[in-house]
Amino acid sequence: MLAVHQDAANGKLSVREVPVPTPGPGQVLVRMAASPINPSDLGALMGFNYSGTRSYPFVPGLEGSGTVVKAGPGLRGRLFVGRRVTCAAELAGDGAWAEYMVTSASQCIPLNHGVSMEQGATLLVNPLSALAFLELAQRGRHRAVVSTAAASALGGMIARLFRRHAIPVIHIVRRDAQVQQLRAQGAEHVLDSSTADFEAQLQTLTKRLHATLLLDAIGGTMTQQLAEAAPRGSTILLYSRLSLQDCMIDARTALVKDLHFDGWFLSNWIEGKSLLQSLRLAQRAQSLAAIDLHTPIRKRVPLSGAQHALDAYVADMTAGKMLLVADPQAVPVDANSTQ
Ligand SMILES: NC(=O)c1ccc[n+]([C@@H]2O[C@H](COP(=O)([O-])OP(=O)(O)OC[C@H]3O[C@@H](n4cnc5c(N)ncnc54)[C@H](OP(=O)(O)O)[C@@H]3O)[C@@H](O)[C@H]2O)c1
Repeated sequence: MLAVHQDAANGKLSVREVPVPTPGPGQVLVRMAASPINPSDLGALMGFNYSGTRSYPFVPGLEGSGTVVKAGPGLRGRLFVGRRVTCAAELAGDGAWAEYMVTSASQCIPLNHGVSMEQGATLLVNPLSALAFLELAQRGRHRAVVSTAAASALGGMIARLFRRHAIPVIHIVRRDAQVQQLRAQGAEHVLDSSTADFEAQLQTLTKRLHATLLLDAIGGTMTQQLAEAAPRGSTILLYSRLSLQDCMIDARTALVKDLHFDGWFLSNWIEGKSLLQSLRLAQRAQSLAAIDLHTPIRKRVPLSGAQHALDAYVADMTAGKMLLVADPQAVPVDANSTQ
């Protein structure tokens, strides 16, 4: 099979022919259709080690879609053989940017008939995170939330999902073009962090709307700006560090305001769910895949164009997902896809 490889942290990608892997107990072999490039993949490519046991070379790609063609010992995997699935890679194993991937059967969810392989490829990481944030907002009885990196695919999902549930969102972006993009999509409260009066505007809005759940995807100085603006008793949910900097927090702000800083990682959140709850969530994600939880796709690129796709994605992350296509019968590749 063809598989994309990275040989060392921060190294270039190459596409190599390697043997098709064999599924072990509890695992399945998925013939991959497509897989996106996500910020978490960038982290893995830079050497950030989600599992603690990364060795090189490895096949990147944390989520995708495909068809289960073989199962190792175990009932669940055998039930999936022949089914189209959305699937996640095992954090310690090889990933989804390949013609075949071995993963745990528990990391696969069968796709409903109306859900395409293209939609299925991006159905786990961001849609489940958006549903999780909604659950956290509702459970915590937060009247409004702050969403950072709001022009991202996940930011768009949060905007649509929270609007459906009538929970106001203060969207933070970092460029005027992103402000216009969100406004055109119907967002009411959009702030540009590059403007001089950003902090004052954020403080006014968080107070007026009583936004006590602040979703921080950025870290660095943004965390302190959120803390300054947060009403007393707020929770700042740290779920990424796009700035590549650790969170800067003035301890005085945190203690005087009784702030809570919670780390949040999707895999851990899912682990805390029962099988029934996970299946319900997966059904909900599928039913909203074409609407609230839709992922804008910028280009469908063959595996051989992985390095080009990665460069294009890093150059403009807001422009939509680059989808690496392993099976052009299942997801047609775009014309001029490697230009
Ligand atoms: N913790 C978890 O389990 C979990 C689960 C799902 C997603 N996430 C996180 O959610 C975030 C969004 O993911 P996505 O797939 O929706 O992203 P995406 O669609 O690929 O978009 C990334 C967005 O982040 C913005 N961005 C990048 N660096 C930034 C910085 N330093 N400051 C401000 N904005 C910056 C980009 O804006 P520009 O175009 O201006 O660069 C772009 O709008 C990511 O950080 C991802 O890791 C975490």
